[in-house]
Amino acid sequence: TLGMPPVGGSVLLADPRGYCAGVDRAVITVEKALDLYGAPVYVRKQIVHNKHVVNNLAARGAIFVEELDEVPEGATVVFSAHGVSPMVHAEAAERSLKTIDATCPLVTKVHHEARRFASEGKHILLIGHEGHEEVEGTAGEAPDDITIVQTPDDVDDLEFPEGTRLSWLSQTTLSVDETMETVRRLREKFPQLEDPPSDDICYATQNRQVAVKEIAKDADLVIVVGSANSSNSVRLVEVALEAGAKASYRIDDISEFDEAWLVGVEKVGVTSGASVPDDLVQDVLGFLSAHGHPDADAVRTADESLIFALPPELRKDMKAAG
Ligand code: F3S
Repeated sequence: TLGMPPVGGSVLLADPRGYCAGVDRAVITVEKALDLYGAPVYVRKQIVHNKHVVNNLAARGAIFVEELDEVPEGATVVFSAHGVSPMVHAEAAERSLKTIDATCPLVTKVHHEARRFASEGKHILLIGHEGHEEVEGTAGEAPDDITIVQTPDDVDDLEFPEGTRLSWLSQTTLSVDETMETVRRLREKFPQLEDPPSDDICYATQNRQVAVKEIAKDADLVIVVGSANSSNSVRLVEVALEAGAKASYRIDDISEFDEAWLVGVEKVGVTSGASVPDDLVQDVLGFLSAHGHPDADAVRTADESLIFALPPELRKDMKAAG
């Protein structure tokens, strides 16, 4: 078959992929709030970083705002899965807003660690992306005691006075390998560096990276479904390329799939970020099937069964409403 285009190419479908426990909880929180209080329910920032999820909730009566001054006095506002700084909580209280906090518990854990390190007199090196909502929220826990470190190379520019006690924390959705490299360089430069009690990069981020690596080593092309502002989705493209995929592209949905990507491709890997509803992935599988790749095999690298309880303030109101 030399020189012939491949026929009947196959698909490797990453598992785990898509929704994590924190995203699932955040989306259900907005849905239940709409059922319980009626529209509109305000949501500060995108509840999760996915265009389709946000559009669907907006169609049901959620109003997404950037900041709390856009929310009318006394209204109900949901905080997004990425977390908020203490200043935002304070502003909500000042404006008598009813708040429901959909911050992922694994982000809240990092907030606790930031507060503890700061109260122990340690300066915190927060590995993460400047301007990302999660980093803004975590940094707000100890604004005077945190320096953001974005890349391994950033370590070269860091200087602290002799005797400064240092610790590190990270955003939950980073590349595991790159973060470990940043920490290695931090430790080399600052031997006194203290580790957090446990990993900040969350189980879902880690599992999706392990799964995409597994499919990427055998794939000519890896498609990652996810939005451009989704940190963990963007990382999946980088990890796929590093793991050996010949090409990898991120798409929000099937409308962004360029057929030219399939030329000469035999094996296609497919995965999705932690904020992506699986029907968007099923659309991709349908498209691939119609374009010469009918057989999809799941490649399973972990079992996930974590579920988070809904925010207590919402559960209380649900109970009261019967
Ligand atoms: Fe939470 Fe990780 Fe998802 S921090 S929102 S479980 S990507």
